[in-house]
Amino acid sequence: MNILVTGGAGFIGSHTLIELYKAGHTALVVDNLYNSKEEALTRVAGILDIDHIPFVKADIRDREALEKVFSTNTFDACIHFAGLKAVGESVAKPLEYYENNMNGTFVLLDVMRRHNCKNIIFSSSATVYGDPAIIPITEDCPKGQCTNPYGQTKSMLEQVMIDLQKADTEWNVVLLRYFNPIGAHPSGRIGENPNGIPNNLMPYITQVAVGKRESLGVFGNDYPTHDGTGVRDYIHVVDLATAHVAALQAIERKQGLAVYNIGTGHGYSVLDVVNTFMKVNNLTIPYQIKPRRAGDIATCYCNPAKAEKELGWKAQYGLEEMCRDSWNWQRNNPNGY
Ligand code: NAD
Ligand code: UD1
Repeated sequence: MNILVTGGAGFIGSHTLIELYKAGHTALVVDNLYNSKEEALTRVAGILDIDHIPFVKADIRDREALEKVFSTNTFDACIHFAGLKAVGESVAKPLEYYENNMNGTFVLLDVMRRHNCKNIIFSSSATVYGDPAIIPITEDCPKGQCTNPYGQTKSMLEQVMIDLQKADTEWNVVLLRYFNPIGAHPSGRIGENPNGIPNNLMPYITQVAVGKRESLGVFGNDYPTHDGTGVRDYIHVVDLATAHVAALQAIERKQGLAVYNIGTGHGYSVLDVVNTFMKVNNLTIPYQIKPRRAGDIATCYCNPAKAEKELGWKAQYGLEEMCRDSWNWQRNNPNGY
């Protein structure tokens, strides 16, 4: 298939491009490089040993630019990663987040249907479950109250695409609810490249390891979990990437609407991650216990059985590989791209 990959220069998009090409697909990336570098695409091409990845630097809110892309290319499907994703920033800048994520997706969906490309895989998030009603979380767990505008955009955009598919059943919509992606390509050539102080756990740990930050703050040790720290379902980004390739099957089968949890099904605490990182990489990560972070929940991990049953997809990597590959990327690229 030929796939339009919005946001393809980003963390998850760049890894997904590799798995798409490895599976025999081709892709064109549209990205405005707001949170990424073109160098990521150069490295993806290097890993794949191909000349280049077709790339158009454009904002998906720019209708004219998208029209041009669709007039000069034929796509079988779109994998839609483009969006803003920093939770804290979304609380401070709600209008920017709603505008970019909602409006960008509206323009994209409209241009897609005008060009009769009605197949989309959307990057959703476990955040749509809020404080989950059931653990492990299955797809029929009711959606919950999101505590921030970023999460609201994911939840609302899911609903937009559900309604669109209901109104026009030619659409095939796959909503992938990612749990906590970490790790990097085993080559160490591409990985997560956050701007400023990282919000998420693994990039903070790797920046401590590389000497950019002094010590990790562990946000709360009084949760009802095995060691008191928050428990999450960390998933290797390469496994997440292959989930997108598998999700194309739901489109090929014309499944209509499909929703999948994409996680490993294992919950690890903050201290489990820190200890595994130290053991696997033979490093010491100084940390201090800090108060709980506003909006955090105690435990979040999924039951990924539906994706295995319907897509034949299952995570292959464990926490040790995630810690090894995150460090391999950071060590080789202390300042990112
Ligand atoms: P990322 O920021 O690395 O990648 C997103 C890309 O989209 C960036 O390259 C950015 O420049 C681009 N972009 C943003 N707005 C755009 C616009 N208007 N037009 C064109 N390009 C635009 O993020 P990521 O971690 O790769 O996440 C990809 C998707 O997955 C996002 O939608 C994110 O919300 C979602 N997601 C991520 C996580 C995570 O932990 N990383 C978890 C759940 C869901
Ligand atoms: C966060 C977002 C979520 C988003 C996801 C992936 C919030 C409330 N949720 O999830 O919407 O989909 O990232 O981008 O921000 N931790 C520390 N110290 C740190 C950083 C994190 O102890 O410096 C802890 C957190 O309290 C949590 C765990 O590590 O228990 C994971 O945190 P993080 O990586 O930010 O992911 P989530 O909070 O699960």
